[in-house]
Amino acid sequence: MNGRRLRFCRLASPTLRRVSEVQALLLDWYAREGRTLAWRRTRDPYAVLVSEIMLQQTQASRVEPVYERFLARFPTAGELAAAPPAEVVIAWRGLGYNRRAVALQRAAAVIVARHGGRVPADLDALRALPGVGAYTARAVLAFAFGIDAAPVDTNVARVVARAIAGRPLRPAALQAAADAAVPPGRGRNWSAAVMDLGARHCTARAPRCAGCPLADVCAWRRAGGADPSAATAPRRTAPAFAGSDRFHRGRLVDALRQGPLPAADVPAAAGVDHSDRAASLAARLVADGIAQWDGATLRLPR
Ligand code: ADE
Repeated sequence: MNGRRLRFCRLASPTLRRVSEVQALLLDWYAREGRTLAWRRTRDPYAVLVSEIMLQQTQASRVEPVYERFLARFPTAGELAAAPPAEVVIAWRGLGYNRRAVALQRAAAVIVARHGGRVPADLDALRALPGVGAYTARAVLAFAFGIDAAPVDTNVARVVARAIAGRPLRPAALQAAADAAVPPGRGRNWSAAVMDLGARHCTARAPRCAGCPLADVCAWRRAGGADPSAATAPRRTAPAFAGSDRFHRGRLVDALRQGPLPAADVPAAAGVDHSDRAASLAARLVADGIAQWDGATLRLPR
């Protein structure tokens, strides 16, 4: 063995040993304590894709009932692609961010047109689907196909920065560290375990290190100092929801779920006083493909 390789081994082995301890502890904890979520009971790639799009901006507890209802109504990509868009937006009720419903139906159309109705098991092909980014594509690979891909959402980013790296990482380094941490052949459970740890113990504020399965091996606890995840994912103060455009758009879509609205009824349905603001909210919905305007009536797309 030449000197360079030897030096690499000396440097790398303690880190590798610690990562394999982290892997064993976390997988063990997950086997005992992992959440039983509806989408973890399936390997159907279409169902997993639906769940991941729903989970992008919405908590698991709010997603679960809508997910079951949605799949009962649209059990395959083919059935979703062929459905009237209005029905898809109606089935999205309770989740908000309705643009995701439109994107999901467009993704289903691409799956039918380009992939014979089957969700592709390929990162680039997944990323080419409307509404599917780096996170969602890897989540589908891991959870549906059991591929050792590492979906990095905010929970995962926090756990990787704190427990594994122990230092702030830029996005590319974070993805690389997350990829390297996946125990070979265990990608599905590993990613679920990391997400659960981020939701239950390794929370953004006031992490609950007592009872955390990684407390003894956590790189951040060993090193002490500032929270490395604070720089990895800068905390943003969420803008107030009540009174925001998103709030009023949501009200308007809820009203449209009941039926078409004549122009004069749009401001009240959106809960705004000014017709200019109502018009601009309606125009956004039309531009996003969530609504149609025929000159007199606003309605969900047919
Ligand atoms: N299990 C599978 N996907 C998940 C997600 N996006 N969030 C939490 N748990 C999950």
